Amino acid sequence: IRTQVAIIGAGPAGLFLSHLLHRQGIANVILDSRSREQIEQTIRAGVLEQWTVDLMNDLGLGARMMREAHFHRGISLQYGHERHHLDLEELTGGKKVTVYPQHEVLRDLLEAHDAVGGGQIVFGVGDVALHGLTSARPRVTFRRSEDGLEEVLEADFVAGCDGSQGGSRQHIEGRTEYQKLYPFGWLGILVEAPPSYHELVYARHERGFALLSTRSDTVQRMYIQCGPTDDVADYPDERVWRELRVRLATGGWQLTEGRIFQKNVVGLRSFVSDRMQHGRLFIAGDAAHIVPPTGAKGLNLAVADAVYLYRGLEQVYRCGRRERLDAYTDTCLRRIWRAERFSWYMTTMLHLNPGENPFEQRIHMADLEYVTHSRAAATALAENYVGLPLEG
Ligand code: FAD
Ligand code: DHB
Repeated sequence: IRTQVAIIGAGPAGLFLSHLLHRQGIANVILDSRSREQIEQTIRAGVLEQWTVDLMNDLGLGARMMREAHFHRGISLQYGHERHHLDLEELTGGKKVTVYPQHEVLRDLLEAHDAVGGGQIVFGVGDVALHGLTSARPRVTFRRSEDGLEEVLEADFVAGCDGSQGGSRQHIEGRTEYQKLYPFGWLGILVEAPPSYHELVYARHERGFALLSTRSDTVQRMYIQCGPTDDVADYPDERVWRELRVRLATGGWQLTEGRIFQKNVVGLRSFVSDRMQHGRLFIAGDAAHIVPPTGAKGLNLAVADAVYLYRGLEQVYRCGRRERLDAYTDTCLRRIWRAERFSWYMTTMLHLNPGENPFEQRIHMADLEYVTHSRAAATALAENYVGLPLEG
């Protein structure tokens, strides 16, 4: 097969890139090792930044989102058993918190892809390997699931959008990797119940962090801080409810419980590769960086990379100039480090870290006091939470 841009990975980064390119008539083919069903059913992030919502609408992909998403004015931060509302909409001049889960975004992107025939997606591929990345004609070899035969995809450029476990990053020569592991994880549940509160609640408690989020009028998403490698088997339903009730407890409010139908554990880490391009390979999204989920940035950051990469490729195909493509890593990294900082700040402020001493714990309490009582501090949090504007 011959195309202009070969995209590895049909996650948020790969699918947005494909749509943006297709809209400008730039041919592309996506390869993904998972099946379409697996991609559409994996439960991950839940919050979209305002510009991500705007981009979905600009691309004509936003109709279901505008009907089914939950739009919140703000979020609540809780500590010392008290809830403090931050009115993000007012603090940012009208930007909202949109709760619309990642797998719904992916479903909308895949459906639109079917409708416009926007290039080809090959699901369930194996043995993906990249070749000739510094030559004028890079190639990707892979095996189709149906017959196991090896195929060759030739392209002008390769986009590595294959997530944190993908192999693309290994081809980026001369990179330095920055990493921080946190000594905790999140146990997430999906529950059949109506919402318990009108907005997300991020709670710091002596027993650890808890987050109350939503999915729909009948399904809720909740998380509790747990050990980084804890097993869901150690968290029978009654234990999860006890922790949620205690950590989210506040006067005059009650948690609505229901049937838990999904549980998972993720470890928290921060990671940045300081190079995102090598020859004709460009990596985007989780392939290049990871944020802990507390700032709700992971999905949005992946989409921002896709937009910057699209702009670089579009310039090359439109007028043969490479400034934007050459500046791709630097442009992305400015946003990435800000998102890393914000995610680290939210994570350290809201979690109980057994490795920290009482002084450090008190500093986090002071941070919470500050951000819930100072308009200047609240404005800084708000600006980051709803999403910094894209450059250019
Ligand atoms: P991905 O979504 O990971 O997509 C990569 C794609 O590449 C996948 O479809 C994969 O199948 C494919 N792929 C991988 N390797 C290969 C290969 N060798 N060949 C072909 N295809 C390949 N963020 C939040 O903000 N909040 C959350 O609550 C949250 N929860 C998360 C829970 C989990 C379990 C994980 C893993 C992430 C979570 N995130 C969360 C982060 C967020 O989901 C990611 O930042 C986002 O998915 C990144 O998008 P991406 O397109 O870069 O990568
Ligand atoms: C959700 C996930 C997050 O990481 C977050 O900060 C807020 C909400 C969610 O899954 O709903």
